[in-house]
Amino acid sequence: MSVEDLYPVDRVRHMPFFYYPTVNTDTDQLTDDSEVAFRRDLADRSAERRKAILYLHVPFCRTHCSFCFYNINVVKEDDPVMRAYADALLREMEFYAKSAYARGLSIEHIFIGGGTPTRLPDAQLRRVLQGLRDHFDLSRVQDFTIEMNLETMSPSNLELCHELGVNRVSFGWQTSVPRLRKFLALVPSEETLADRLSHLERLGYPLIWDIMYALPTQTAQDWDVDVKRSIDLGVACIDIHRTDLVPPAPLYHLVREGKLELPTQAEALAQYLQAYRALKDAGYVFNTFQQFNRPDVPSAVSHYGRYYYRSSHDMLALGPGAMGIAASWAYMNERDIADYVARAKDGGPFWSCAHHVSDRTWQERDFVLGMGQLWSVPKSLLRDALSPQQDAALEKLIAHGAVVETPEEYRLSEDAVGYHFSVASEFQTQEELGRNVGYLRSMPSEIVWNSSRKRTATRAE
Ligand SMILES: C[S@@+](CC[C@H](N)C(=O)[O-])C[C@H]1O[C@@H](n2cnc3c(N)ncnc32)[C@H](O)[C@@H]1O
Ligand code: SF4
Repeated sequence: MSVEDLYPVDRVRHMPFFYYPTVNTDTDQLTDDSEVAFRRDLADRSAERRKAILYLHVPFCRTHCSFCFYNINVVKEDDPVMRAYADALLREMEFYAKSAYARGLSIEHIFIGGGTPTRLPDAQLRRVLQGLRDHFDLSRVQDFTIEMNLETMSPSNLELCHELGVNRVSFGWQTSVPRLRKFLALVPSEETLADRLSHLERLGYPLIWDIMYALPTQTAQDWDVDVKRSIDLGVACIDIHRTDLVPPAPLYHLVREGKLELPTQAEALAQYLQAYRALKDAGYVFNTFQQFNRPDVPSAVSHYGRYYYRSSHDMLALGPGAMGIAASWAYMNERDIADYVARAKDGGPFWSCAHHVSDRTWQERDFVLGMGQLWSVPKSLLRDALSPQQDAALEKLIAHGAVVETPEEYRLSEDAVGYHFSVASEFQTQEELGRNVGYLRSMPSEIVWNSSRKRTATRAE
């Protein structure tokens, strides 16, 4: 009984989204009742120094890379919407700063993502970073990351970030293969890369970048070039992103029309294992299933990236479309920038959806996200007895050598590397599967639900 008996390679799962529970406009639209209850919990409950991570979404970019489905708006450098956005964000910070619960959280890890936070003019970026310092106690913050894009990274915004406490800067390089860069609409040149690396180095920032696999037409040789280059360049934290083509990524439409094919599950799995082995052989250590670190550069590790997936931490998420989980409410903010700004002027609520999370769901979350993303579930986190589904799944997975039980944890076995999402999905309940469908439906454009396998955009099973 092996892992392959459980999950034939053509059926190995991939999960494009990493929220659990997801919240969506089908089932979780904010109602008067849920708004009152969520507000009451934030006002009355005490967080008692519960650990937390903080995410802040900046939905602006200079150009739209053809593969990207994130909630972004392409804006000109002087677009006044960025000032309006910063005004609204400061109001959202103020809202949480006034809540007893949020004030009682111990924020330890911060991630400013997007989009491209450095699309903001320096003056607005300063207001946002300063706003965080003014509204939250950041004295316990360990890692403080900002995502940049090479085109908008500059000596002045790097210095500004450095001055205001940001200690990790990450950016997407995606690939060094010219044919792929062209087709992905990636603007930065090799010269720009060299220039920006010199600025990062001058300020003492470790090198952290994202590269992508399972891209249309990408061969194993292409992928080898990108993995090897990351290692040779000494990138301290490498994020390997599997391509998901969902709306509103411009490339999605080509897939939908059958003009472009994504690799098969087996090919994508092979590329994942190719990188996993190469990084391991080069001495990189696992942080999450897609993030690998050089052990000699601890400052490059994103603890945020781990605690995102653990019930030990709340996640306060700010900005348009941000999804968080606080005071046992999973929520999604209004995605549309104009509506988000309008809500701020009305004094909130910033949430468009909210859903109360029970202890049972927190435990499901520890299994689903723990097995899928971190390959382990510490027993100390479990809040309840194992459910019949969890019991049965563990028995089956242990019998097939996919999971190992120790006194401290349930752990994915080395044989099951690459099958982590198949393992994780054993713990997903029917109710939450329904929520996932609703989440996909709540994305801005239409998704192809029943097209042939070759054309299914996300390849999610
Ligand atoms: C939210 S983006 C922000 C990065 C930053 N704006 C930049 O371009 O450098 C973070 C990363 O998500 C990954 N990403 C974007 N679109 C993706 C997709 N369709 N599938 C998989 N990963 C994707 C890319 O690797 C990207 O660097
Ligand atoms: S990859 Fe980065 S720069 Fe490109 S569209 Fe997405 S968020 Fe914007």
